[in-house]
Amino acid sequence: MLFRGIISLSLIGTAIATGRPSSTSICDYYTTGLLKDNTAKNQYALLTLLVNTAVIGNYTEPSNGVLVPGILNPKGMYNGVPVNLLPYFNGCFVSTNTGEAYDLKNNPPKSVNFLDGGGAAPLMNNMPASDMTSAQYFLLTHLYQYFGALLGCSKYGTTDFPAYGGEGSLYRVHQYMGLDSNEVNYFITQVGLSAASFGVAQSDINIVASTLSKTFGYKCSPPVTIIPAQGPVLDSICTGSNCPKDPNAKCELYDNNYGNSPRPAVAPQCMSQSSSSMAPSPTCPGQYTVTVTVTKKPKQTHMWCHKNWQSGDEHKWCN
Ligand code: HEM
Repeated sequence: MLFRGIISLSLIGTAIATGRPSSTSICDYYTTGLLKDNTAKNQYALLTLLVNTAVIGNYTEPSNGVLVPGILNPKGMYNGVPVNLLPYFNGCFVSTNTGEAYDLKNNPPKSVNFLDGGGAAPLMNNMPASDMTSAQYFLLTHLYQYFGALLGCSKYGTTDFPAYGGEGSLYRVHQYMGLDSNEVNYFITQVGLSAASFGVAQSDINIVASTLSKTFGYKCSPPVTIIPAQGPVLDSICTGSNCPKDPNAKCELYDNNYGNSPRPAVAPQCMSQSSSSMAPSPTCPGQYTVTVTVTKKPKQTHMWCHKNWQSGDEHKWCN
C-alpha cells in the first residue's frame, strides 16, 4: 500500500500537544497534526490506522507505550470480566443478519467469516483485506467510512474518502449478536486505546468514547442520525440482558422483543471450542473515560501473534 512506510515513520511517537479548537473536527485536527496535509487520502489513512489498530491491536510500536489488546483478541478483559469478540468475526457464532426484520424463522442469523480476506496480515500493511470481494474488505472499509463520518472528516463523501456504503441501522447489523454491556464497552475501549496510541488527547478520546457509549451502548435508544444521507435510524447495539435502558427508551420501535436479543448459537464447526464471556456486568456509563495503560517497555512483546485469526488458530504472544 502506498502510504504504508510514510505513515509508520511520521505517525509513531508523535503526540499532539496543542489543544484542538472546537471549530475543528477530531478527524481534521489529527490528520493535520499527524499526517501534515489535511487531504481526503490522509483522512482515510488516519481512519485506516485507527480502525486497524483497534481491531488487531498495536502493529506499529507506539513510542508512548500505549497498549492496544485489540477487538479480535480472544483474551480481552473489561472491568475484570473476560471478553472474547472473536467468534462474532470468524464465523464461530451464528450471529450475522443478512436480511431486514428481526425474524428468527424467515430471516435466521447466519455464521459468516469476516476474516476471509487474509485476516490480520493485510491490516498490518494498512489495508482492509487482501481480497476486495471478501466480507472482510466490506466490513473494514465500512468501518473506516462510518467512523470517518462520526469523527467529522471534512473530506468524507469525496472520491478519496467514499461515503459509508453499509447498512444504515447499526441495530439491524448487530441485532442477532445479543451483545452485552462488557462486549460493547470492550469494543469502545479498543477504539479509545487505538486513538491514545497515536497521541490523541485524553479529552478527545473521552468525547469519542462517550459518543459511542451514548449512541450504541444503551437498549432501545430512539432513532438518531449519524450518517446524514441515511437520516434517523435505530442504532442500539447493546441488546443483551445487562445493557442499560436509554433514558428516552423507545422499545416499541425495536422488533427483537422490545430491544432484547438472546445470545447467539455456536456454529457447528466450533462446537468443541469454548467461546465468549457470559458473565453479567456493570452498566454503560453516560460519561465514558478510557483508562490508558502505558508500559515502560513498548516492545512488541504484547502483540497477539496470529496468522489469520481463523477458528482453531493457535494463539501465542509474539516475542
Ligand atoms: C460500539 C460501537 C460499534 C460501532 C460504531 C460498530 C459499527 C459497525 C459498522 C459500521 C459495521 C458495518 C456494517 C455494514 O457493513 O453494513 C459493523 C459491522 C459489524 N460489527 Fe460492529 N460496531 C460496534 C460494536 C460492535 C461490537 C461490540 C461487536 C462485537 C463483536 C461488533 C461486531 C460487528 C460484526 C461481526 C460486524 C459485521 C456484521 C455484518 O456485516 O453483517 N460491533 N459494525
